[in-house]
Amino acid sequence: MIEISFYREEDRPGLEELYRHWDRDRDFDRTLFRETLDEISRDGGALLVARRDGACVGYAHLARVVHLGLEPYWEVMQLLVSDECRGEGIGSALMGEAERVIRERGGRVVKLSSQLHRSRAHVFYEERGYTLYKLSKFYQKRLD
Ligand SMILES: CC(C)(COP(=O)(O)OP(=O)(O)OC[C@H]1O[C@@H](n2cnc3c(N)ncnc32)[C@H](O)[C@@H]1OP(=O)(O)O)[C@@H](O)C(=O)NCCC(=O)NCCS
Repeated sequence: MIEISFYREEDRPGLEELYRHWDRDRDFDRTLFRETLDEISRDGGALLVARRDGACVGYAHLARVVHLGLEPYWEVMQLLVSDECRGEGIGSALMGEAERVIRERGGRVVKLSSQLHRSRAHVFYEERGYTLYKLSKFYQKRLD
């Protein structure tokens, strides 16, 4: 039985463990993880956590985005289900709950970006009604 609700303080250790299930090749930075979790959880409940038997098995982070002159939208900033629980409907349940929360908060448009190599995630989103609307390049500069 999967339970989904907003992040609670007792989810902290489980979420930290779950976060390691990202297939990222960079080292896990615990300080950065904790600082960003503090900031995100302060902003009023845009972090949804899926639990099974009390254990964190997935999360979705949502944020409202406003660009000058454009229709505001909500973005699914991150979506992750633990390795061993994929393909069991948890990601779909998190997206369903995300859309319910966004609708409840007056949101009408949901956007997300997904790296080119995540082809299974692309199928996942497309099967849930998301359509590819733009390809972009992302630039950055580190200010030392
Ligand atoms: C993408 C993800 C969130 C989907 O969650 P999930 O709980 O596995 O999804 P569901 O069980 O609700 O739906 C299963 C569908 O998801 C897709 N999927 C994507 N990656 C998958 C994976 N590693 N294992 C199983 N299904 C996956 C498939 O389309 C699958 O459909 P199928 O069963 O017909 O093949 C999850 O697989 C995950 O965390 N992947 C790694 C992180 C990631 O890519 N996040 C999205 C970044 S944009």
